[in-house]
Amino acid sequence: MRTIIITGVSKGLGQALAKTLADEDTRLIGFGRTQGDFTGTFHSCDFTKPQLAASIFESALAALPLEDSESITFIANAGRLGILAKAQNLDSYDIEETIAANLTGSALAASAFLRRVEQIPVPKTFVQISSGAALPDRAKASWSLYCASKAGQEQLVRSIAREQENAQHPTTFVNINPGVMETSMQEQIRQTTPESFPEVERFIKMKEEGRIPTPDTVAAKIRDLLSNAASLENGKTYSLANY
Ligand SMILES: NC(=O)c1ccc[n+]([C@@H]2O[C@H](COP(=O)([O-])OP(=O)(O)OC[C@H]3O[C@@H](n4cnc5c(N)ncnc54)[C@H](OP(=O)(O)O)[C@@H]3O)[C@@H](O)[C@H]2O)c1
Repeated sequence: MRTIIITGVSKGLGQALAKTLADEDTRLIGFGRTQGDFTGTFHSCDFTKPQLAASIFESALAALPLEDSESITFIANAGRLGILAKAQNLDSYDIEETIAANLTGSALAASAFLRRVEQIPVPKTFVQISSGAALPDRAKASWSLYCASKAGQEQLVRSIAREQENAQHPTTFVNINPGVMETSMQEQIRQTTPESFPEVERFIKMKEEGRIPTPDTVAAKIRDLLSNAASLENGKTYSLANY
């Protein structure tokens, strides 16, 4: 039996991943604020409450019989776009919630995951669902918190990947940039005014032209990529646009 842990399973890509990765040989564990139709073992956990989230990760992972798994995969998928607005129009709530939901959540997850699995000698993978917004040349006006926290997640993964090079039973850390997908994040983007987000027309046009894939299509590509986990390169960012 393999174990797959996914954050943000209630909707969007996380929901699609849970469905496409489920089979009788898979123990599925989910974290997030709400469960949606997720059928695995679910732990309610809000990354904007870091102390509480850390203890939920810790106790949920401690209770799992991971030593009997043939492989262990953690997919840090949960994310929040946050308010799209220029920096001078952000308040402390927006700033704290978006950075916490994205960057703090991934750091807590990676830390708790490694503590739990570091002595387990089976193939282990930590996947960060990243974004084009993490790339230096894709910085977008009005997306400063999202871009900064996605870039932070990518660098977090690269740094921990370095640490794992010297681990006795290393975990492979990778980023996967899924590209745009038709989820609630895209709906939120299209509802933003051009004053708040000058590029909004481009996203509306992509939708009108049917150029935005479903999360199911993207989840199937991630499933295929992870099916050969041994070939994944520690510290690398995989862009699904290339697959
Ligand atoms: N959609 C795109 O075009 C696109 C493009 C590139 C990258 N991505 C990335 O893909 C991933 C999935 O995004 P999506 O489009 O599927 O978004 P989504 O439909 O909005 O789903 C986000 C998930 O994250 C969970 N979440 C949000 N805030 C949370 C919090 N504070 N604590 C715990 N869980 C939280 C949500 O669950 P609850 O509300 O139940 O907590 C939900 O299941 C994200 O990392 C995103 O950055 C998306």
